[in-house]
Amino acid sequence: MGAALGVRLAGIKAAPLVRPQPRGAQVAPRKLVAGNWKMHGLSADIAEIEAIAAASRRFAGVDVALCVPAILIERASRAVPGFPIGGQDVHHSDEGAHTGCTSARMLLDAGAALTIVGHSERRDSQRESDSEVKAKAEAALACGLGVILCVGERLELRDSGAAVSTVLGQLDGSLPDRSNAEAELAIAYEPVWAIGTGKVPTASEIAEMHAAIRDRLTQRYGRQGEQVRILYGGSVKPSNAGEIFAVPNVDGALVGGASLKAADFLPIVAAAADHSG
Ligand code: 13P
Repeated sequence: MGAALGVRLAGIKAAPLVRPQPRGAQVAPRKLVAGNWKMHGLSADIAEIEAIAAASRRFAGVDVALCVPAILIERASRAVPGFPIGGQDVHHSDEGAHTGCTSARMLLDAGAALTIVGHSERRDSQRESDSEVKAKAEAALACGLGVILCVGERLELRDSGAAVSTVLGQLDGSLPDRSNAEAELAIAYEPVWAIGTGKVPTASEIAEMHAAIRDRLTQRYGRQGEQVRILYGGSVKPSNAGEIFAVPNVDGALVGGASLKAADFLPIVAAAADHSG
């Protein structure tokens, strides 16, 4: 886990997404700021992607990526060569009778370097289970795609004191088994109640959750679990990004609404740069 992307598959090679440095007492990991465009974006918005990619180059210490609708991946990746473009979901099968679905090889073929799996909007609306999310993550990693695997509790579970146990349960069910993946795995902690609401957990709530996730990752993957970046997602904005990036074990962010415009997204990337070792 944590090695550069670059698995060759039938002549297709993913562009490098991220190269995390070993986590150590002196060396902070590079932060990853990924945008999730959800169901937003038309060809006219490629110019915004170009603006984000161009300006992101100024922040050499931060990894930046944009996960766009599947139909935009090819145009986006051609427009910004070398800048990581990702998908938002992937099917676990290589191919077959799965109407409307996209395989990992198709994402790779279109130029994607990574994909999100297990976003709460899909867990809810598509009834995706932990075991499906795990199969998706494994299929994507096997192809050389980076994976951002999302977990997060609903409000009633936070209110009842079950936030950490819920998220650890999701991890237990959905973390990929392969511990020597050549492609990178990142975890995004996205409390469902914080997505698109303007509500954000307190710094100590984020710290508690990210520490629990880190523990689980090291239990599961040993020292490699130290290199898996843990992103926070849910109403990340220019106004709160600095405070969030200062929290221990926050290795970046998965940003929804504020990733759609360079003017909103780039200050978040800048905040990550300010908090990079
Ligand atoms: P918002 O940043 O719009 O709250 O969305 C977060 C999210 O769901 C990213 O995947």
